[in-house]
Amino acid sequence: MSDPQIRDAETADLEAITAIHNDAVLNTTAIWNEEAVTVEDRAAWLAERTGRGYPVIVAVDETGVLGYATFGDWRPHSGYRHTVEHSVYVRDGQRGRGIGKALMIELIHRARSLGKHVMVAAIESSNTGSIIMHKRLDFMQVGRMPQVGTKFDRWLDLTFLQLVLDQRPFPDETK
Ligand SMILES: CC(C)(COP(=O)(O)OP(=O)(O)OC[C@H]1O[C@@H](n2cnc3c(N)ncnc32)[C@H](O)[C@@H]1OP(=O)(O)O)[C@@H](O)C(=O)NCCC(=O)NCCS
Repeated sequence: MSDPQIRDAETADLEAITAIHNDAVLNTTAIWNEEAVTVEDRAAWLAERTGRGYPVIVAVDETGVLGYATFGDWRPHSGYRHTVEHSVYVRDGQRGRGIGKALMIELIHRARSLGKHVMVAAIESSNTGSIIMHKRLDFMQVGRMPQVGTKFDRWLDLTFLQLVLDQRPFPDETK
């Protein structure tokens, strides 16, 4: 099997992205909702993200899309404009072979290129694989909110990690 290639997502990837997303919705607590989405919904999401200049990237090999990652505004108020929150999903059966980390390395590069200052990861607290991956990428755990979510008839805690992307002293300094 050839090494995965990381590139921007295209319309042709949307079916696979939808399947990965819906698997996470139906079978995991990585996403805190229970409604599967359609390819049209993901097409609108891709258009919205890229329309705002934000990346949606995929890892692909000859078997198709192995995973995807993206970021968007962390919170809507303008004071948060230098902070993004990301998500990363690897296809079931492909986890643990470096794909998540490869996607994250490219995503961190994209965030730095856009002049972002902080990346936030909000991770369900029992998702140790994701928490370990983020720590390996130098994300620092900064908080844990007990029982702020629910899925599958139980409470979910949310763990926050963040990566500071640059050391600029003033937020709006041009790079
Ligand atoms: C979390 C996820 C994105 C990680 O991607 P992945 O391709 O499986 O992870 P990688 O193989 O790139 O591993 C990256 C690092 O994390 C470590 N790691 C990953 N999963 C791990 C696990 N379950 N237990 C221990 N360590 C783990 C790896 O050993 C590796 O460490 P290294 O840098 O020292 O080699 C992937 O497992 C996934 O999609 N899970 C389901 C959806 C999800 O939870 N998404 C994240 C929502 S916040």
